[in-house]
Amino acid sequence: MSRQAPDLGRFDADPDRSFNMPAAYYTDPEIFEREKEAIFFKSWRFVGHVTEMPETGDYLTQDICGENVFVVRDGAGDINGFYNVCQHRAHELVRGRRGNVKAVITCPYHAWAYGLDGALRTARFSEKVAGFDKSDFGLSPIRVEIFCGFVFVNLDAEAKTIRECAPGFEETFRAQVPDLDRMVWVDQANFDIAANWKVVAENGLDGYHVFLSGPAHKALGELMDGHNLDMTTHEGWAKLHAHAGTGDNKAYGYNTGTGQTDEYVTMMLWPDLLLFTLPGANGVWSFLMAPEGPERTREEVAAYMPDGAEMDAATKEAVRYMNEVLGPEDVGLNTGVQKGLNSRGYRQGRLMVDEARSDMSEHTIHFVQLQTLKALGDVP
Ligand code: FES
Ligand SMILES: [Fe+2]
Repeated sequence: MSRQAPDLGRFDADPDRSFNMPAAYYTDPEIFEREKEAIFFKSWRFVGHVTEMPETGDYLTQDICGENVFVVRDGAGDINGFYNVCQHRAHELVRGRRGNVKAVITCPYHAWAYGLDGALRTARFSEKVAGFDKSDFGLSPIRVEIFCGFVFVNLDAEAKTIRECAPGFEETFRAQVPDLDRMVWVDQANFDIAANWKVVAENGLDGYHVFLSGPAHKALGELMDGHNLDMTTHEGWAKLHAHAGTGDNKAYGYNTGTGQTDEYVTMMLWPDLLLFTLPGANGVWSFLMAPEGPERTREEVAAYMPDGAEMDAATKEAVRYMNEVLGPEDVGLNTGVQKGLNSRGYRQGRLMVDEARSDMSEHTIHFVQLQTLKALGDVP
């Protein structure tokens, strides 16, 4: 049975003419259920970094819209991924953000034990059970891919590789961060935001709110030298690239030429991961905007430093600015938008896009909306 075509109002596939997509896409539980199936159970999901799991038996878990999964390193050094569920009576197998299972994954309920390849090794008492065949009860595997040093999984066995989904992303990011392969995980913090994941994602790609005397982040506009912002959209990814100024600004102090980069670069891997650098700071950050519900997002912010080194003074300052100023400012903006999206008084706002795609143009916002609507099949 075919679904009735949704009313997108004045949304247009052409960014130059488009209004924002209807507010229901940020609030409606039914649309969120469709997004789970069409986007989050089909796209590559960020789990963590390879340096978080260096030893045999090290694992990382991740929650994908309520589906709990884990990745584990085996004796050959490969990383395998599985649904986090025992094939006996469905107890979860591993707990916490990370840990080590040693040589086997033992279920905490009745102690069925699985190899790091997912095969059922031992099931107490099974020799007395008629016709019991261990090979029927291996863990349910999921796809795993290592990309730019990060571990991703995909619940869709038919999915294209990340490189096929986002051609050019890796080359572009590596050109920006020459030390990418030396990066080591050093820190992570999670935040619960009362906003739809797309509100957060759009904010992360929003130049209009930052540049040329916008009211939202005064210091950030200075830091980034807003007259020099490139915002580009590509197949499966988008990029914000600001060439930083002299180092004189109200956000934080740094000397140019001392960090990993003097540029502010945010790369979005569709749908919900940002990788970014900060001027004068010697690291890389990941920012996952994982949906928890139609109006809740779990932000996972993690830092990576070359060889796991201590952060230098400028990097610490950048982190302080991000945690104490920029982050809270954006949380306030996101929750403020989410409230408004529930207002009966909100109609569809116009996307502020200019033909030249200049510093304040909102074509990157349109990118998030169009990708979503395409994935849902709501536009051709
Ligand atoms: S549920 Fe895992 S061993 Fe019984
Ligand atoms: Fe912001």
